[in-house]
Amino acid sequence: MQDRKLKVVVLYGGRSGEHEVSLRSAASVFHRLDRTRFDVIPVSIDKTGRWLAQNLEVASRSQEVLPVDLTAPQLVLLPGVTGGAPRFFAVEGQLPAWFGTQGEVDVIFPVVHGTLCEDGTLQGFLELADAAYVGCGVLASAVGMDKEFAKRLLRDAGIPIVPYLCVRKGQWAQSAASWMTASTEQFGYPVFVKPANSGSSVGVHRVKSASEFAAAMEDAFSIDTKVLIEKAVSAREIELSVLENPDPTQPPLVSIPGEIAPSHTFYSYEAKYQDESGARLDIPAQISAQQIVQAQEMAAKTFQALDGEGMARVDLFLDRQTGNFYVNEVNTLPGFTAISMYPKMWEKSGIEYTELLTRLVDLARARQTSKRALKRG
Ligand SMILES: Nc1ncnc2c1ncn2[C@@H]1O[C@H](COP(=O)(O)OP(=O)(O)OP(=O)(O)O)[C@@H](O)[C@H]1O
Ligand SMILES: [Mg+2]
Repeated sequence: MQDRKLKVVVLYGGRSGEHEVSLRSAASVFHRLDRTRFDVIPVSIDKTGRWLAQNLEVASRSQEVLPVDLTAPQLVLLPGVTGGAPRFFAVEGQLPAWFGTQGEVDVIFPVVHGTLCEDGTLQGFLELADAAYVGCGVLASAVGMDKEFAKRLLRDAGIPIVPYLCVRKGQWAQSAASWMTASTEQFGYPVFVKPANSGSSVGVHRVKSASEFAAAMEDAFSIDTKVLIEKAVSAREIELSVLENPDPTQPPLVSIPGEIAPSHTFYSYEAKYQDESGARLDIPAQISAQQIVQAQEMAAKTFQALDGEGMARVDLFLDRQTGNFYVNEVNTLPGFTAISMYPKMWEKSGIEYTELLTRLVDLARARQTSKRALKRG
């Protein structure tokens, strides 16, 4: 047992399209971290990338979303002195009192989604600062965000994925017609067109005919320079929560599966965030005992194939016609509101929200300890 409370920073906001979503997840995490073990400090990243020390009392009163006061003191994070905890400094003036005199913190809990947050960039920064942080490392984060590279690693591990074509912007500009022909020959219609790096279904289109193809591709290319064309699967959407096993010799822990049943033609941005009845969430998913085991094995294998650490939510398609599972994607920093799938699936599997947060913080510290024990340089 630790002899003092650990300082845990809840880091939220971010320079991503999912900034607002993060504020809600972060409010849940902030309020429900175990105060008998942790002192919790709110730090926001604004849309220009500045790290700001948000007021602890204001955050404590903000139930639904954590505040992003743009006039709050700006922070920098630097590595500690040899082997010590990383330190926050105020760019101007004094660091708020709750950081302590040295500005040292024990663990950073990123509750952010999307680009520059979930894609390995933030994780790389935290590695440089020598900070213990919750969730996947640089590689798994980057791969989890890039749907093309995720597919390559999954295929290499023998995990079923939906057939796809990957098109770069320049390739599309040069020969759009031949890509369309290739897609039609291989997949017919409908197909899904999606940016390789995206989230919240932004830029994702279900293309029913040749006449819709070009506009969908152009829109996807406004989000990323790399776009996937996928065969559309008539599928049920099954999700599982994965948690790193504290015993590194053991496979990761996997929750019972949940199902997202969108009321729209697919799980679009509108269905996710704008329509309150956009989807029905069923936990546990109503699938057979055999399918549950199959899905859990696939989720564990997926986490391992990507070198996952900490946590991930693995999203599967269950083909309505064939009964086959495919991995659709991996989310390394899944939504974390009290009603989000990741914590809900754990709750229904016997790990309550606060306990889950404690486990994640402990995993972050254990990883730092084992990394520091490695010979480097
Ligand atoms: N090949 C496909 N066949 C059928 N439906 C699909 C396919 N690809 C995507 N979809 C639908 O579009 C939704 C969004 O696609 P996807 O999960 O790939 O995008 P996303 O933007 O990464 O979402 P997230 O916010 O989960 O990261 C899926 O949940 C599903 O409803
Ligand atoms: Mg998705």
